[in-house]
Amino acid sequence: MIHRPRRLRLNEQIRELVRETHLLVKDFIYPLFVVEGAGVKKEITSMPGVFHFSVDILLEEIKEIEALNIRAVLLFGLPVKKDACGSESYAQEGIIQKAVREIKKICPKMIVITDLCMCSYTDHGHCGILNEKGQVDNDKTLLYLQKIAVSHAQAGVDIVAPSDMMDGRVHAIRQVLDESGFLDVAIMAYSAKYASSFYGPFRDAADSAPSFGDRKSYQMDIANTNEALKEVRLDESEGADIVMVKPALLYLDVVKKIKDNTLLPVAAYSVSGEYSMLKHAINAGLLSPAAIMEAMISIKRAGADLIITYFAKEVAKELNGAK
Ligand code: PBG
Repeated sequence: MIHRPRRLRLNEQIRELVRETHLLVKDFIYPLFVVEGAGVKKEITSMPGVFHFSVDILLEEIKEIEALNIRAVLLFGLPVKKDACGSESYAQEGIIQKAVREIKKICPKMIVITDLCMCSYTDHGHCGILNEKGQVDNDKTLLYLQKIAVSHAQAGVDIVAPSDMMDGRVHAIRQVLDESGFLDVAIMAYSAKYASSFYGPFRDAADSAPSFGDRKSYQMDIANTNEALKEVRLDESEGADIVMVKPALLYLDVVKKIKDNTLLPVAAYSVSGEYSMLKHAINAGLLSPAAIMEAMISIKRAGADLIITYFAKEVAKELNGAK
């Protein structure tokens, strides 16, 4: 007898019946870049289809996102001025603090997540405070991350997402949030964040490239997977609510390994380089637009519960239309 697996591939109905992985709009988190000013919606050159928004226009965008049934957004801010300790990152009138307050006023149900890092706020572009040798001082940086977290919580954020990769940050942030009465603000830790080349377009978008050196002393070595699991275990023990792998597409083995070893929800961040690569290839006619859904399915198939992607709106439109 010939075994005939093709029977279950005969037509779309039967394929749908036995399909193992399904994308849902609620799986997606949409990253957004916020700038000062009014009336700004400016396309980011390195990321076609992604924009810088001033808060007023951002609110329109948020309404559109909500209408698509996307539940969560991840905010990145570009400050007016930078300094050695990134003081705009924890300013009451900082760009993120303003954006969070305004979003919560008009769309209180939208889950607002903020990236918690200093690189777009420091004049040197590193993700922390530098010591006299020009190295990132881990424990001093923790004090600043605490200030940023509290300022975001005061603005009304639902989840903070520390992306700095300092040791002990989840513990430090949980402790200060609890002490300040923000028991319900969750932490989505960028747990396994690699020192990847695929953040290039983002650093353009967020004006956050380091002015010297690289991020290899704090972000993870691209060759390691046990280390990813170690970071996840530490973040769990320090009180993380959600753990994240970043990038996603080139690190699906890491997503799988982490999913198999944690009880926490796992998020995967398909980063700017992954987005731009696909987007440019599709725009050039080299790849079919179906490549987007294939990429997203692969991330979910690997074990991600949540997918952070600049394609979230396009994916939601497709999924809503497919109903
Ligand atoms: C901040 C941060 C970065 C990204 C998210 N948060 C850049 C970096 O670490 O250099 C990258 C996101 C993307 O590439 O889409 N530290």
